[in-house]
Amino acid sequence: MPSTIVDVQMTVGDVMIRPATAADAGGIREIRNDAILTSTAIWTGITQSMSEAAAWVDEHLERDSMVVAECDGFVLGYGCWAPWRAKEGYRFTAEDSVYLADGHRGRGIGALLLNAVIASARAAGMHTMIADIEAGNLASIALHQRLGFETIGTVKQAGTKFDRWLDLTILQLML
Ligand SMILES: CC(C)(COP(=O)(O)OP(=O)(O)OC[C@H]1O[C@@H](n2cnc3c(N)ncnc32)[C@H](O)[C@@H]1OP(=O)(O)O)[C@@H](O)C(=O)NCCC(=O)NCCS
Repeated sequence: MPSTIVDVQMTVGDVMIRPATAADAGGIREIRNDAILTSTAIWTGITQSMSEAAAWVDEHLERDSMVVAECDGFVLGYGCWAPWRAKEGYRFTAEDSVYLADGHRGRGIGALLLNAVIASARAAGMHTMIADIEAGNLASIALHQRLGFETIGTVKQAGTKFDRWLDLTILQLML
């Protein structure tokens, strides 16, 4: 079956945006676990084991919904989409995620990844994309607004981590 993401593969400077493969699971896990341990971007403190990370990446590979940013053989970041909610009535609504390793942010790579994720969701026939973002995550909110997402609103104290309440800002892009 032709890949929907391959169509948006590109190289910008020394960074290549390409579809993820199973071999990227270790690099993706490292970035994801760092965000789990050090930030409020992911609302859990439970890190992924290698087998959990491989299974999670595989789920995305099956729906062709994950891209990575690679430089010199290293995964600098990843972007993906997945169903926003499990019930079948939500099946045309995707939720996106974009994560870069510390030290590689603010260079435009997040925008390249999110553009590729949007293109993939469109190609898969998704109707709309939602971003659930911790209200204080100004970089992620700016990234999404830059790519055309509209701010829908903020749910106050929707979650908790590091012994404080977290507000959830919801943004949406019609695909
Ligand atoms: C959020 C994240 C993916 C953004 O990726 P990035 O590569 O740093 O962003 P880009 O360089 O592509 O910037 C995209 C836009 O957002 C803006 N932006 C980026 N970082 C910003 C910041 N800290 N504050 C304000 N605006 C910011 C940029 O100015 C740019 O807009 P412009 O083109 O009008 O200048 C990245 O910062 C990251 O990985 N953060 C940690 C993980 C995370 O929070 N992920 C999102 C979870 S919801």
